Amino acid sequence: MAQFKVALIAGSNRRESINRKLAQALARLGAPGLEFKLVQIDDLPIYNQDNEGSLPASVVRFKSEIAAADGIVFVTPEHNRSIPTVLKNAIDWGARPWGKNNWTGKLAAVTGTSPGAIGAALAQQHLRQILGAQGVVLMGGETYITFKPGLIDADNNVTDESVRGFLKSFIDQFAALVARFATPARAAA
Ligand SMILES: Cc1cc2nc3c(=O)[nH]c(=O)nc-3n(C[C@H](O)[C@H](O)[C@H](O)COP(=O)(O)O)c2cc1C
Repeated sequence: MAQFKVALIAGSNRRESINRKLAQALARLGAPGLEFKLVQIDDLPIYNQDNEGSLPASVVRFKSEIAAADGIVFVTPEHNRSIPTVLKNAIDWGARPWGKNNWTGKLAAVTGTSPGAIGAALAQQHLRQILGAQGVVLMGGETYITFKPGLIDADNNVTDESVRGFLKSFIDQFAALVARFATPARAAA
């Protein structure tokens, strides 16, 4: 039985996102004790400090999903050698208002994919910098995935055996980290 809730955040608003596909493949691979949930971010309005007094419903929903998670797996695309706007926007909402930062103390792992040879490596490094500043406790290591057509099939299975093994060890390592260090997730946003 799953003991820990893991929020999967795919940093894309593209219908056919390869990073959402990768997130779904990680959930399909699974790991002992973890229950995965893909958290929507493409319905969040553009962050505006003027709206902090009365948070939009989608923001309240997003912040409560992060608050309820024992761990978070970020799966980021790379846009112009950084993370996409839609992901930075979600991180900003999660960090605000002042005193209501949902990221602080969360256990997280980072991966991502791009068709390029370095598999979103620079975006992942940028993301680590941003999350570290928010007090997120990040799993070490590097999981850069070069996406090739057919890498993940229609049922979210990873078709390449060596990539599948690599991703399985990534998610198993995160399960071990969560089992060792997770404290019960706070319910409130
Ligand atoms: C605005 C923009 C910038 C991009 N910049 C990069 C980049 O710096 N490095 C890279 O490997 N791919 C880059 N790409 C290609 C993306 O890796 C590709 O569009 C990928 O499918 C995005 O992930 P997604 O399908 O999950 O949205 C860029 C794409 C867009 C639209």
